[in-house]
This record gives sequence, structure tokens and C-alpha cells, in this order.
Amino acid sequence: MLANPFKLKKLGILGMNKRNIHYIGAQNDRKFYPLVDNKLKTKVVAQNAGIAVPKLLATIERQSQLRNLKNILAGLDKFVLKPAQGSGGKGILVIMQREGDEFIKPNGQRLQLRDIQRDISNILSGLYSLGGKPDVAMIEQLVEFDPIFDRYSYEGVPDIRVIVYKGYPAMAMLRCSTSESDGKANLHQGAVGVGIDMASGKSLFSVQHGSPITHHPDTGYDFSGLKIPYWEKILTLAASCYEVTHLGYLGADIVLDKNLGPLILELNARPGLAIQIANKAGAIHRYDMIDKQKGHLDVQERVKFSMKNFGTSEPNNK
Ligand SMILES: Nc1ncnc2c1ncn2[C@@H]1O[C@H](COP(=O)(O)OP(=O)(O)O)[C@@H](O)[C@H]1O
Ligand SMILES: [Mg+2]
Repeated sequence: MLANPFKLKKLGILGMNKRNIHYIGAQNDRKFYPLVDNKLKTKVVAQNAGIAVPKLLATIERQSQLRNLKNILAGLDKFVLKPAQGSGGKGILVIMQREGDEFIKPNGQRLQLRDIQRDISNILSGLYSLGGKPDVAMIEQLVEFDPIFDRYSYEGVPDIRVIVYKGYPAMAMLRCSTSESDGKANLHQGAVGVGIDMASGKSLFSVQHGSPITHHPDTGYDFSGLKIPYWEKILTLAASCYEVTHLGYLGADIVLDKNLGPLILELNARPGLAIQIANKAGAIHRYDMIDKQKGHLDVQERVKFSMKNFGTSEPNNK
């Protein structure tokens, strides 16, 4: 599918250069980047706008605080440690459980306090941040995913990536973690991307490492039976990030917490292009249709437009 440039053009596949110039460059004012490039800032702004996010439990800003880590983590049995300015799942540690002084990862691996201190030290020194700048470590509430995803995600929370162009949800994909991705739903870590029909929330196609697959590599379940609940609510949440960030081209990552419902996990000013492979569809036709829209529509009207116009007539499942 991605071989022949003429075919690519016909399919309306967006490539790296055009994305960088016509979409990221033209739509995203650089002055708004710091807001989405820093997960702490995103959280504050989203909360102020009434958008639900996973709770922040603690932040660690200085190496000297590491001596006090035992107290900082007192009473926290499940949590996620992450670099505020990280990306692609790098430097993220998911802790599911605690037994005495040991912290247990989704794959059962046990960590000591000193292992966590070392991870935080790496985060603070900028090992995972853009440009190697010193960073802050965040400790976040562990999202407990909706049981609907039990069969489709292995040892980790799946997230729903929605590309929002000029405030319109344009394309979506569910990303499911695998044993390889170690509790994280990032494609580069080995997660599976499942294209999602914009009208219904049903699955379309699935890819891992850029190649088509039909079943989850660990759970063995067929992705074709999948339908995401609260679909319209998820699209509405994604579309509302436009007003909050002022970014005309963004990727919103949403997780479905079994108790709290849809939450915004993070926002990206430079979303990847693989979502088109999982949808077996190019994004350009959709962006062109959005460009032709006139007048100011509110969030709800934009979501209705996208559900009506970007649905696939025959999603993969019944
Ligand atoms: N609070 C959380 N609870 C459970 N899983 C999480 C949490 N935060 C992140 N994850 C897992 O890690 C992945 C990457 O996290 P994210 O915050 O999107 O950082 P990145 O910018 O590195 O992608 C998520 O897709 C999810 O699978
Ligand atoms: Mg992410």
C-alpha cells in the first residue's frame, strides 16, 4: 500500500513532508507547543477547561528529593511514573501493585525502591525529554481500563488516538498494548494499531510494526469484533481540545477508565502518520473536506459532521 508514489497520491495518503509543512507548520503556532509538549501543563489547562484527565499524585523536580522517595510513594500501590516532556512511551513505568518494599510491573517483574530512584534520576537528567533538556517526573493515577478491552489489550491500558484537524475529529485508531510494549500503547513500543470507523466506533483494520494482523498477538482475540463504547463522547472530548490548545492539527490520546469514563491522557502537536495504515485510508481527502467548511461550528456540530462524512460504509465487523 505504501510503495508507489502515484498510488499514494490517489489514495490521499499524507506523507511526512506535506504533514510538516501544510499541517503542522501551517496550523500549529509554535507559541502553543509548550502547552502540549509538557504533560504537566496540558493537565492543568485541560482541568481548567473542565476536561477530565488522570489525577496527578506527585511530581519530583530535583535529584535531592530522591532521598525522600519512600515517603513520597507511601500509600501509593498503583501508579504510573512518566517524564513530563517524554514521547513515544519512553521512560514510562507502570506499577500495578505493591508487596512490601517491592513494586510490581504489568509483566510481573518486581522493582526495588532503588530501581525507581534510578528511573526518576534518568527522567530528571533529561534522558527522555525533547532535546535532552532537564525534566520533571510525574506520578499519575493508574488508569484502570474498561473491561470491554480485556481481550484486546495485554497488560496495559489501550488508548484511542484521534486526529483533530481545525477542531474536527478526522481519523481515529485504538492502540492496544502487547507483551512487547510492556504496559504502554505506543506503536513504536510494539503496540497494535486498530483503525476505527468514525461513524460507529467499530474496528476496521489492524497493524503491528506496520504490517497487517487480524488477531492480538498475545490474547489471540480477533480484532474484528471490537466496538468502542461512548464513541460520540470520545470524539467530542477530542474535538474540544481544539479550543483548549489553539492547535489546528493535533493528536488527542484518550483512555477509557472503568470508573471515570473517557479521560484525556495527552495531546500531541506532531501526531504520527501510521494511523492511515490502520485505517487503510489517506487523511488528505478528509482534511480537504474540512478545509471547504465555512462558518464557525461548535464542538457538537463538528463531531456530527465528522461522524456523517468520515464513516466507512462497511466496518470490518457486524
Ligand atoms: N495513568 C496511566 N495509567 C495507565 N497507563 C498509562 C497511564 N499513562 C500512560 N499509560 C500508558 O503509557 C502509554 C504512553 O503514555 P503517554 O502519557 O501517552 O506518554 P507518551 O507521550 O510517551 O506517549 C499510554 O498509551 C498508556 O498505554
Ligand atoms: Mg501517548
